[in-house]
Amino acid sequence: MKIGVVGLGHVGLVTALVLADQGNMILGIDKDKKKIDMLSKGRPTLYEPGIEDLLNKNIKRFRLSISCELLSDAEVIFIIVPTPTINKSIDLTYINEALEEVSRFNKKAIIVVKSTVVPGTAKLLSERFGIKIVSNPEFTREGTAIEDTKHPDRIVIGGTDKNTLDMVESVWAFTGVPVIKTNNENAELIKYASNAFLATKISFINEIANLCEKLPGCDVDVVAEGMGLDHRIAAYFLKAGLGWGGSCFPKDTIAIVSFARDHKEKLSIIEAAIKVNQERIERTMELAKRHLGGKLKGRRIGILGISFKNDTDDVRGSQSVKLIERLVKEGAEVSVYDPVAKLETYEKQGLYKSQEECIKRSDLIIIATEWRDFSDIDKIAKGKKIIDTRRVINSVSNDIVPIGIGRLDES
Ligand code: UGA
Repeated sequence: MKIGVVGLGHVGLVTALVLADQGNMILGIDKDKKKIDMLSKGRPTLYEPGIEDLLNKNIKRFRLSISCELLSDAEVIFIIVPTPTINKSIDLTYINEALEEVSRFNKKAIIVVKSTVVPGTAKLLSERFGIKIVSNPEFTREGTAIEDTKHPDRIVIGGTDKNTLDMVESVWAFTGVPVIKTNNENAELIKYASNAFLATKISFINEIANLCEKLPGCDVDVVAEGMGLDHRIAAYFLKAGLGWGGSCFPKDTIAIVSFARDHKEKLSIIEAAIKVNQERIERTMELAKRHLGGKLKGRRIGILGISFKNDTDDVRGSQSVKLIERLVKEGAEVSVYDPVAKLETYEKQGLYKSQEECIKRSDLIIIATEWRDFSDIDKIAKGKKIIDTRRVINSVSNDIVPIGIGRLDES
C-alpha cells in the first residue's frame, strides 16, 4: 500500500518504519526540515532501541518531504501530530493544520487519526473538513515502541464506514492480534481510559509504598509481586517509584479530567492519581533532606537519569527534571548524569558530569530513572548514600547504603 504518515515524532516515525518494514511504501511528512534531512540520510532523529537499523533497512520504502504534496496518491494517511494540553484542554491546532494541508493535495485517501484526542473530536473534524475520519489510537511505549507496534495487545479502530474500517484493519493484519472495530467516540475514549488506568495503577502502588515505609518488615516490591501474580491484577505497571512522567500520562490524565468536568462529571479516582503523583517529588525531597542532616542548601546531590523512563532520550514531563528543579530551588548543588538524555539548560549550567564524577562529587545520590546501567552502581558508589527511587539496584552489598522507596528507612 501507499501510506502517508503526517508527523514524524516518536509514534509517527516508529509507525512509518514498522509499516515500511511490512513492504508498504511510506510517504513521511514533517514540517521540520532538519528532521527530514536527517532521516533522508538514514540518521534517526530520536533515541529508540533498534530505530537506526530499521530506518536504514527500509530507507528505499520511505520517501520524505516537508510538503503534503507528496501525499497526492496515498491510499491511507495517518495523522500523528501532537495534541498538547493547554489550560487543561486539548489543543487541536496541529491536527487542524495537518488536515487542511492534506486535503489540499488528496481528497480520496482514508484519513486515520492516531493522535490522542478526546471523544467527539473525529466527528467534529469530519464535519469541519467534510471527510470521513478513522480513529486508530496507539498503545506503544517509548523505549519499546518498535516491538509494541509490531506486537500490540490489540488494535482499536473507530469509524462510521465499514469499508474504511476494513481497509485500516488490513494495514495492521500482520500483527495477528484481536481487533476492536467500533465507532470513533469509543475508540477515542479507549485510549484515554487505558492511559488513565495505567497511571492510576502506578499511583496506587506508590500509595502502598508510602504505607510500607511506615511498617517494619514490609517491602513494596514484594507486595507488588504478590499482587501481580493474580492475573486479574497483573504485574505490569506496579513498580513503585518517583512516579509517572512523559509526554502522555501527565497530559492525558489532565485532559480527561477536564473533559469530564465539561460534561459535569468528576473523575475522582484519576484526580487522586494525579495528586499522588505530584506528591512523589516532595516525598523524595523530604527523604533527601532527612539523609543530609535536615537541609538541602549547599549539599551536593547527584541525580542519575533525567529521561522520563529508561531507553529513551525524552525528558518531556520527566519526574527527574521536576525533582532537579526543586532541589536547585532549595539551594542544593546538583550534578546530573544520563546515558543518553540531555537538557541544554543543564549543559549551560554545567550540571552534567560523567557517571563516576557525578557520584564522586555527591554527598547523596538519587537514582531517578530506571536505566539498567544503574543496577550495578554498588561497584562504583562504595560507601555512598543512594536513594534508589526506581528500585533498580541489583545487589545490596555492605559497601553502599541504598535508601529504598517503599520500605521502612532504618538508617
Ligand atoms: C504510555 C502508555 O504506556 C502507552 O500505552 C501509550 O501508548 C503512551 O503512553 C502514549 O499515550 O503515547 P509511555 O509514556 O511511552 O507510554 O511510557 P510508559 O512505559 O507507560 O511509562 C510512563 C511513566 O510511568 C514513566 O515515567 C515510567 O517511569 C512510569 N512507570 C511505568 C512507573 O513509575 N511504574 C511502572 O510500573 C510503569
